[in-house]
Amino acid sequence: GSNQMWGGRFAEGPSAIMREINASIPFDKALWRQDITASKAHVAMLGAQGIVSAEDAATITTGLDRVAAEYEAHGVPENWDLEDIHMTTESRLAELIGPVAGRLHTARSRNDQVATDFRLWVREAMEQADAGLHALQVALVTRADEHADSIMPGFTHLQTAQPVTLGHHLMAYYEMAARDRSRFADARARMNQSPLGAAALAGTGFPIDRHATAAALGFDAPTRNSLDSVSDRDFALDYLMAAAQTALHLSRLAEEFIIWASQPFGFVRLPDSLSTGSSIMPQKKNPDAAELVRGHAGRIVGCLTSLMITMKGLPLAYSKDMQDDKPPVFEAAGLLTLCIAAMTGMVEATTFRTDRMRAAAELGYATATDLADWLVRQAGIPFREAHHITGSAVKLAESRGIALDQLPLADLQAIDARVDERVYAALSVEASVAARASYGGTAPEQVKARVAEARVALGLE
Ligand code: ARG
Repeated sequence: GSNQMWGGRFAEGPSAIMREINASIPFDKALWRQDITASKAHVAMLGAQGIVSAEDAATITTGLDRVAAEYEAHGVPENWDLEDIHMTTESRLAELIGPVAGRLHTARSRNDQVATDFRLWVREAMEQADAGLHALQVALVTRADEHADSIMPGFTHLQTAQPVTLGHHLMAYYEMAARDRSRFADARARMNQSPLGAAALAGTGFPIDRHATAAALGFDAPTRNSLDSVSDRDFALDYLMAAAQTALHLSRLAEEFIIWASQPFGFVRLPDSLSTGSSIMPQKKNPDAAELVRGHAGRIVGCLTSLMITMKGLPLAYSKDMQDDKPPVFEAAGLLTLCIAAMTGMVEATTFRTDRMRAAAELGYATATDLADWLVRQAGIPFREAHHITGSAVKLAESRGIALDQLPLADLQAIDARVDERVYAALSVEASVAARASYGGTAPEQVKARVAEARVALGLE
């Protein structure tokens, strides 16, 4: 048979293939709450404007509430003939309240309807990401506070570089999360305009009040161009870009936990609750959650790529390609929520093996820069020359298999006569981190200052 919503001009109904390729209900049923909310705002406005009678508006509103209650209790039925969530809801509404249901779609198209629903959904996803990242930041700050002066090796090229504090390392991720939150906040502010009333593409001849529906739905204003309103999905791309960037940050943190948990490093014991065992090797405790965060980041980037390529080259206004906007956004949002929660749990419950971290910082000549800096400061030697002298000292210590501060003074003086016994005080890892007290540096006092500011920013103080 012909489609009940648009079948008037058709002699025969869609083929099975047409119905299957056209159906978005399997995934866009996730928009049902937004669809009901937007329809209620629309019909209230139609009633207030006298476009439908107050009585019809009330009947439709009550009917929409009944549909919502059914969805809540039994889920959304999936009938491919009804294509999508919009027609599924309108069709059920008609079953419940009769032909008056047909007045709901006055001065509206599925094109502005879906754009509105999807914006509402994405706006919530942005708020959810923000809340998740806030919790992650709280965990990071809490652990950083505990470990403001726990010493670990800092790396470049994954080679021991200079000692840093674990608190400083964790606060690096706090900063990344802060920028990720600001990206979601920027995107939310930019997208918070209502496309409802753009209708199919050109606006409508009915005397609608777009400002009223915008306000009812929590938008700051109506959008200013009807063509743009129904054809762009940059708000969803903004969400995906912020999600992808967040996932990249989480993936780097996950990778660090994976490396730190491996036996040769032994910097952390991951919580049992976020690890798995091996079916053959009884000793194994694998960092699967962290590995999946690393893996999921790739999928989230894939979702971004997917929607970018869907939108690329589409002429104005709506094309059905745009129905494919939803699966990547839904998928990315689900994955992102999981990834943020997994890393929050890991930060909260990981045991940091500060003894192992400190011992590692003592190896690898992490305080070589401190020797060079000492030569500059105490002996007035130009940094490049000091660098060279220090390199000779490292070479000698390495050849003997000892640390820098285990070299006898006579050997250091043989390399450069200007060295004296005060140098040893500069070569400890504690002295090294304490010295790096420049603003934003790794010195414990700096870390504590940043933690204190962060606690205020997070509303913990
Ligand atoms: N299911 C459609 C989507 O998600 C709704 C809009 C359909 N509009 C249209 N003109 N066919 O994009």
